This record gives sequence, C-alpha cells and structure tokens, in this order.
Amino acid sequence: MQKYMSRKLKAVFILTCIFLTFNSLAQDKSTLRSAVPVHTGVYDPAIDMKVESLLRNMTLEEKVGQLVQYSAGQPTGPGTGRTDYNDMIARGQIGALFNISTAKETNAFQRIAVEKSRLHIPILFGLDVIHGFRTEFPIPLGLASTWDPLLVEKASRVAAQEASATGIRWTFSPMVDIARDARWGRMAEGAGEDPFLGSAMAAAYIRGYQGQHLDAPDSIAACAKHYVGYGAAEGGRDYNTTEISEHTLRQFYLPPFQAAVNAGAASIMSAFNSINGVPASANPFTLTQVLRNEWGFRGIVDSDWTSLGELIPHGIANDGITAARKAFMAGVDMDMVSSLYHDHLAALVGSGQVPQARLDESVRRVLRVKFALGLFDHPYADETREAAAMLKPESIELARTAAERSFVLLKNSSGPNNAPILPLSSNIHSLALIGPLADDADNMLGSWSGLGKNDDVISFHAALVKHVGEDHLLHVKGTDIANGSDEDLTAAVNAASKADVTILALGEDAGQMTGEAASRSNPGLPGRQQELLEKVVATGKPVVLILFSGRPLTMPWAFEHVPAVLAAWFPGIQAGPALVRTLYGESNPTGRLVVSWPRSVGQEPLYYNALSTGRPADKHDLSKPPAGGDDKYVSRYLDVQNSPQFPFGFGLSYTTFRYGATQVSQKQLKAATLNATLNHDGRHPALTATAEVMNTGQRAGEEMVQLYVRLQGTSVAQPVRSLQGFQRVTLGPGETKKVTFDLGPEAFALWNDQNGFATESSKVSIWIASDSTQGTKAEVEILP
Ligand code: BGC
Repeated sequence: MQKYMSRKLKAVFILTCIFLTFNSLAQDKSTLRSAVPVHTGVYDPAIDMKVESLLRNMTLEEKVGQLVQYSAGQPTGPGTGRTDYNDMIARGQIGALFNISTAKETNAFQRIAVEKSRLHIPILFGLDVIHGFRTEFPIPLGLASTWDPLLVEKASRVAAQEASATGIRWTFSPMVDIARDARWGRMAEGAGEDPFLGSAMAAAYIRGYQGQHLDAPDSIAACAKHYVGYGAAEGGRDYNTTEISEHTLRQFYLPPFQAAVNAGAASIMSAFNSINGVPASANPFTLTQVLRNEWGFRGIVDSDWTSLGELIPHGIANDGITAARKAFMAGVDMDMVSSLYHDHLAALVGSGQVPQARLDESVRRVLRVKFALGLFDHPYADETREAAAMLKPESIELARTAAERSFVLLKNSSGPNNAPILPLSSNIHSLALIGPLADDADNMLGSWSGLGKNDDVISFHAALVKHVGEDHLLHVKGTDIANGSDEDLTAAVNAASKADVTILALGEDAGQMTGEAASRSNPGLPGRQQELLEKVVATGKPVVLILFSGRPLTMPWAFEHVPAVLAAWFPGIQAGPALVRTLYGESNPTGRLVVSWPRSVGQEPLYYNALSTGRPADKHDLSKPPAGGDDKYVSRYLDVQNSPQFPFGFGLSYTTFRYGATQVSQKQLKAATLNATLNHDGRHPALTATAEVMNTGQRAGEEMVQLYVRLQGTSVAQPVRSLQGFQRVTLGPGETKKVTFDLGPEAFALWNDQNGFATESSKVSIWIASDSTQGTKAEVEILP
C-alpha cells in the first residue's frame, strides 16, 4: 500500500512538474489561482515515515529545539539572540542557524549537531540569498522588470548552486509582497504592484531555488515572505500597521503566496505588520485558516526576525510566554531570533496551554524539510566544491543578460539631429560621465547582496572607459549621493560644457536608502543631485540620465527636461557592461515597469489596478486647474494629475510598435460554465484574445505584449484594469505578428460578496496593449 501510494504520488508530482514547466515556458498562460500544488518532497509518504520514527524518540526539549532558530553571523535585525550555540546544538536545542556563509563555518556547526547531539539531527542553515549569492543579479525589482520568469528561474538556480556549495540549504526568498507605495524601501525586494506578474515571479524563484528535487545537493529550500500584507504598511513606513479587507487580501496580497505554495515552497515567513489589528506573526486567519486549511501547506512557517517578541510592543501580549503561545497557536512553527520558543514552549506544553499534538505537528514540518533536503544523508558541505561553484562564466553571462533586460527606457526624445538620443552614436567624440554612481561598485550590488563583493563588479565607468577609451571620456563625480560641495558641482558643469554628450549616473544609496528600514517620505533624488542635474542640463548639451534606485523616484523636472532617461535599478555585478551595451544599442531595452511611477509622493499609494471611484476623472483634463462645475467635483488633485509619470507596464524600445485592435473568439460566456472549470490550471481556456503587433521602427526589437481585463457589474467592484497575461514577441523591422492569449476562467474570477472566488454575470473589457493605459478594447458579456 505504502509503495503504491508513493508511486502514485510520484506520478502526480512528475505530471504536475511537466505541466508547470510547460506553463512556465508559456509564461502568459499560467493562471493565478492554480489548485495543483507541487510537493517537492515535503509531502512524500516515505519521508513522513522517517519523520514519525524520529519523532517517537524525541524528548520535549529536543522537539522544541527543532523550532528554534538563531543568527550566528552578521545580524540583519536588532539583537542577535544568543551566542552559546555550540552548547545548545550539542543539547539538541537549535533547529536552524542563519547568517553564516562559508562551508567551513556551516560544517563546524553541523559537526556538533550530527556528532554530538543525541539524535544527530542536522542543522538547517539559512541566509537571505535574495538576488544572487556571490554572482549578484539585479535587485528583485529589476529582475521583475524583465517580465521574464524563465530568466528569474535561471538566476535563482545559479544562486542556489552557489549558496548550497557553502552548506546553506535555505534562503529567505522570494519576497512576494505586493508593493503599491514607493516610500516603502522594501519595494526594491519584490516584484512590484501586480498579483498576476507577482505570482509568475514567485513561482519562478521557487522553481529556480528548489530545482527539480529538493534533495539534489545544489537545491535550496525557498521561503516566500513576508506573509502577509507587509507591503501595505501605512504611509510606506517600514513595519507599520496595515488595514486590508479580506477582499483585497484575497485578490491582491495573497495570490503570490498561493502561487509560491503551489510551486512547492518549502517555507513561508510570517511578517512584522499587523493586519486589521492582529499581527501577521500571530494571525490564525492567515496562518492557519488560509495557509494550512485552505491551501494545504505542509512546509515550515518561520517567523521574521524577532517578530514573536514584537507581539509585545504590538500590544497583543504583555509577556514573552503569552507572545510565544499566541504565535505558536496561530501557526508559526519556528521562532527566528526571539528565543521565546526556547524559553517558554516546553512550559506551555507542560501546562497544556499548547497541546502536545500541536507541538508534534510543527516539529514534523521542520523535520520533513530537513529530510526532503537530504540533510540526514548529506549533512556537510563539500568544502572542495565551494570555490568552483562561484562566479562561473555562464553565471556572469546570465547576470549581464538579466541586467540588460531589467533596464526600463523611460524617455528617449530627439537629440540635435532630430533622431532619438539613444542609442549613442559611436561617432561621438567626447563624453562626460558625471554623478555619484558612475564609478561605483558597492551600490551596484543592491541591498541584501549576499556574498557579492565590490571586486566582482564592473562599474559603469570601467566599462565605458573600455568601450570609448580614456581619451574620449571626462569623468567627474559632481556630488556624493547625499552630500555635495560647490567645487564638485562646478567641476561637473565644466566637464559637461566641454563634452558632446553628458551621461549622468544619479540615484539612491542602495544600502542606506533602499531595502529594509529604508522608507523615504520624499523619494526624489537625494542630496544635491537635483541641483547637479539642473546645472548640467543648463549647459545645453545633450544629457542621458541613468537612474540607479530601488524604487521609482519622484523627479518630474527631469522627465520634462532631460531628453533620455533609463531606469537601471541596481543592476548587479555586470552593471557596467550591461549599461554600455544598452547605451550603444548592442542590447535593445525590453524592461517594463512593474510599479506605477509617481509624479509626486502625494499620489502614493499609486497602483494601476485600482478601483474606479463614483466620480472618475478620466474624461477631464487634469493638467489644468479645475474649471469648476463638473470639472471640479471629480476625484482629482488640484495640484497634480491623477495619472502616474509612467504607468505600470511601460517601457520604451529603440524601435516602435503598433498594435492592431483586440479581437476575441466569443462575445458571450456563461458564468456557470466558467465556474465549473475554475481552478483547473488553465486547462480549460474560456476565450481566446488576439491582436496584431507590428514593429514600425528600423531595428529588430522585443515587445512585452500585455493583456488586461476589466469586469463591470459584479457584486464587488473590480479594478479598472488587471493584468491577466503577458507574452514576449520578437519582431524584425516592419514585421507583424499575431499574438494570441488563451484565457482561462481565472481571468474573469473575483473574490465576491459570497466570500469565494467565482465568475459572475458581468460586462468584460479586454485590452491587448503595450502598457496598462494603452490598447483598444474588445467587449464580452458573461451571462449567468
Ligand atoms: C527581514 C527578513 C529577513 C530576516 C533575516 C528580517 O529583518 O525582514 O526579510 O529574511 O530579517 O535576515
């Protein structure tokens, strides 16, 4: 029976993998609310048997130990927990350690666990491997801007291969938080504001990290974080409170997590924020009802750094023992750094406040992942493999491709000879390269840069010198990121005046101004960079602005006055070569925005998939002050337009594309039929939408064709548009291709007033478009 079960499960697993791989290659065809989880070993009955036999031998203290995790290296939050790890490991009191990053160090701790502890249970070593381990790729916001899940999967595979070579078998990635507010520094770490794209990216990271089999020595367990709603922090201030209705949670914030679970994520991290008054790290609704009961998640729920201790300042516990009980009973299996489970869990079980069965369940989840990773059989890292795994030529090549594809060309208007200023002509005799980020290695690595080293980075300046030669390049800093002197500014203006074209490299400090605990109330150009920009533009010489940032920066002046602007995010170790290839047209930009780019911070939170108000302003000219009457009493600002500077999905190419009308295979659908096939993973396409896309320019180029849907007349109001598909199409000059999207019932489903996902009779608009504001719409009716 056992054998049969296991074979049957394996068959389901393999079929599911084949299906999901096919789906991932098809990119756009993947659905949001897929119902077929990939179990990646965490659900293997053979593993369950091993877990049960081990569990039977464990003491209460040893069980608790498996649920305790400490940082043993560079701290990534306040405090470090404890330091007497060697003794604790020998006593079986620690299940996981993180922030250690060499094979020698992990092996040293592992030897204690395996050789000295009574039951020889190996330690699970974790690290924030966020966008690369040693080979640093663009920050996740940049990776998402590629709109290329397969590339993201390959990048995370490289990260897994490198990290695992040091004994790290667990990464606290991907961050799948929806981010709608550019003030929030952690926007840099995620895939932006859209749940459909965010779900595709979530699954891609997990496939890359976990590979085909979790027990392969180069696979690492993923951890989708921060569950849930962390990105909705009020005012964009990190760690702040969130108020999220169940409808909004279900339709926007939860789907990327569900996609992660369905892709087989071995773990989930509970977030810092409170949701509607209940902290996410002690929230029975999200952690138990949704995650366990509805989605069937069997992996580990790990807390965020001291988020259990933080239940006290949150105000739902007055002491550590209550915090431990509330978090544990809500569904947090493992305590990162707080030490509260170590201190109180055994007593809570002893007094019956935590049932023994509940404790066993959490221990099972941790042991399952350890068995699934093959840690019991291969607990040690192979120290001879470590160096060779890093920075392989093909990994570096992939880092360059990823960087090139992450760049979003925001503006490219005409230069002196009436041609767009980019790509730069190779006839330009002298270039000025100005700005604090021009000759920078550290910031190129982005925040959470793992083991990335400055020496691994080819800076923009180094690559440009190589391309144009020292004699043709005037390089001056102009200003530091946050401070600047008059002399430096003057030197920059002099350099710009002497050059034919000036390239400005401006932006944020990756470590100080982006990522965790790096919210900004004014996310514009820091320090004196705006002044530098204005002075350089005033020379009258053509200017190309390269922006390095972890968020869209509010800088409307630049978008009005600078002819060419490229959003480069933080591109990773191949920043320089990728930028030079892009500037000189060897690579044609294909990146598209995954966040709405604000004109003013006062517009935040700003996201394209918003609801309509009762007084929409879309028919009004918001570039002028209200003329009174109808023009006044609409949902608008008096001092800024409603629209973003650049919309979600936007990005230019060195060629241009024209879209034909959106066409649909049917004008009517039936809700009853759609509902019968909902959640079947796109196996029942309900409708086909097509449009012709033509390359109207002089160069070959790639267009990211996007499909948006709007539902009207539903029980709960739906966004003015929501992304339901995307496809890359490569077109030679003058070439036209017909792009086809097969939409499953999920594309028309909503979390409705009956508290469930369903399709309803409604009017449907469908656009195939170059971004979230473009396209001609086709209309379809959903009948009951
Ligand atoms: C962050 C997490 C991270 C953890 C461990 C926390 O401060 O919020 O994203 O995984 O630290 O480093």
